[in-house]
Amino acid sequence: MRAKKIIVANWKLNPETPREALRLFSSVSRVARGLRRSEAVICPPAHFLGLFHERLSGGLFLGGQDVFAKNQGAFTGAGVSARSLYYLGGRYAIVGHSERRALGDGDETVAQKAKAAASAGLKVVLCVGEAIRDETGRYFQFLRQQLLGSLIRLPRRFFAERLIVAYEPIWAVGAPAQSADTPADFLRQQLFIKKVISDLAGKETAMRLPVIYGGSVDQKNAAGFLDEGQANGLLVGRASLRPDYFTAILKAADALA
Ligand code: PGA
Repeated sequence: MRAKKIIVANWKLNPETPREALRLFSSVSRVARGLRRSEAVICPPAHFLGLFHERLSGGLFLGGQDVFAKNQGAFTGAGVSARSLYYLGGRYAIVGHSERRALGDGDETVAQKAKAAASAGLKVVLCVGEAIRDETGRYFQFLRQQLLGSLIRLPRRFFAERLIVAYEPIWAVGAPAQSADTPADFLRQQLFIKKVISDLAGKETAMRLPVIYGGSVDQKNAAGFLDEGQANGLLVGRASLRPDYFTAILKAADALA
């Protein structure tokens, strides 16, 4: 059986009220119950995790947008730890998102977070991606360095069990972005990412590694990335806050054989 497509909703710091959050959650939950070839992962702000934990049903999983590298101790304002995220029903954790990297997370911090998340039993959605796509192809070198640096602490056994790589070129992420990448370019990056992982963890692990695409995904371009781009899933920001768009993306993913 082919692996299910993983469609991740990154809500970022939205919405503001529990009421709105529940409304959004319920609309996704209704559609997720009927999914067969894909699964939905909602990554809400950490303060809403407790609200959703008891309301999870089929086809729907919870994730964190980040984790702190330590599980407990004197770390005022640290945010959610990997183990707490797991206790709150989380099964996925995004680490190394470009918006966290912009706030100071370097590869070493990302590497510690990836290790903490995997050790806590979470699937790690490691984000990588270049800021500029230069004509000469130097971004491939950047991507390689970012992958190596971010994975340096992850025990090899977790590569096969817990790692998902999200390719998110920064120029395609969020409101300032002009456009998404193209499925053809994503496919090329995906092969490159698998090559780097193959050098680190062997060919078989690399072949099975889920590589997902993120950056200006919407209900119109989603199917192209999954089909032509052979993405194993999508990481969706803005469109995940629109129930009509996000459920259309879920349905499109599920309709692909
Ligand atoms: P976007 O965000 O879909 O709004 O571009 C994606 C992300 O930040 O993960």
